[in-house]
Amino acid sequence: MFSYIQQIPELTKATVWMKDSKRVEHILKSIKESGINTLQVISDFDMTLTRFAHNGKRCPTSHNILDSSKLISETGQAELKNLLNTYYPIEVDSTRSIEEKLPFMVEWWTKAHALLIEQKIRKDQLTAAVKESDAMLREGFQLFFDHLHQHSIPLLIFSAGIGDILEEVIRQEGFFHPNIKVFSNYMDFDESGVLQDFKGELIHVYNKREGALLNSGHFQELKSRHNVLLLGDSLGDLTMADGVQDLQNILKIGYLNDKVEEGKQSYLDSYDIVLERDETMDVPNAILQYLTSAQ
Ligand code: TMP
Ligand code: MG
Repeated sequence: MFSYIQQIPELTKATVWMKDSKRVEHILKSIKESGINTLQVISDFDMTLTRFAHNGKRCPTSHNILDSSKLISETGQAELKNLLNTYYPIEVDSTRSIEEKLPFMVEWWTKAHALLIEQKIRKDQLTAAVKESDAMLREGFQLFFDHLHQHSIPLLIFSAGIGDILEEVIRQEGFFHPNIKVFSNYMDFDESGVLQDFKGELIHVYNKREGALLNSGHFQELKSRHNVLLLGDSLGDLTMADGVQDLQNILKIGYLNDKVEEGKQSYLDSYDIVLERDETMDVPNAILQYLTSAQ
């Protein structure tokens, strides 16, 4: 047993998988030696910071929060559900390459956003929609957000979901601290407060690299932070750190929520630590505790 595992016993949980634990040890030690002022955290939102399921029931993504709210007509809800049933299986299909999936993801997001725009959603209705939803951040999220804030570690939330909704989820919990920055799809409201479009370039699950490169200003501001802790749940999340300047060490933690048997090998090949059906922030929290502790 390695010494760092004694310091991070959470890594021995039955849900934790590592292809190369020596490599994990090496990365952790290097980051710790560099000091926490060299660290930045980059995390996906849906199904990474939020739970995948609770009591056997799927939890909503930021899109689903809107889709199943009173803001969407019954036919609108049925159409959005249809899109989900068509395209989600493609998103998580481990037999298809990312290149093959790309056009389908663009189609899904484009159709879903067009449907949302048709619904004439008002900005002032979002708070209630989030309040009435079943949105749930992962167990231990309070410690995660507070720990990063206390140590002034920047957290970039990089999401193909809806920025306005995910911010509202975190704000309603009271944890939208000033060290958080969000790259996501933000709604564009007209002067009367009605949704008329989405701002900027579309972010879907498999174009986060392009999104990262477009936001070079953010990474320029953090140019002294060469070490990254990356959290994701999709293979598309692996490119979220592609804009980081002079990257030295990156530790990638992947939540494997769905299609576990089919996805395991590819997750093990690409994420340093794989968390199988783990609905908690225990492992990221323990790693942050290790990295920020004095010894
Ligand atoms: P993420 O990058 O924050 O994980 O957000 C992307 C997730 O959003 C992805 O898993 C698919 C999901 N999604 C929906 O649930 N409904 C939709 O209409 C769309 C376009 C995406
Ligand atoms: Mg996700």
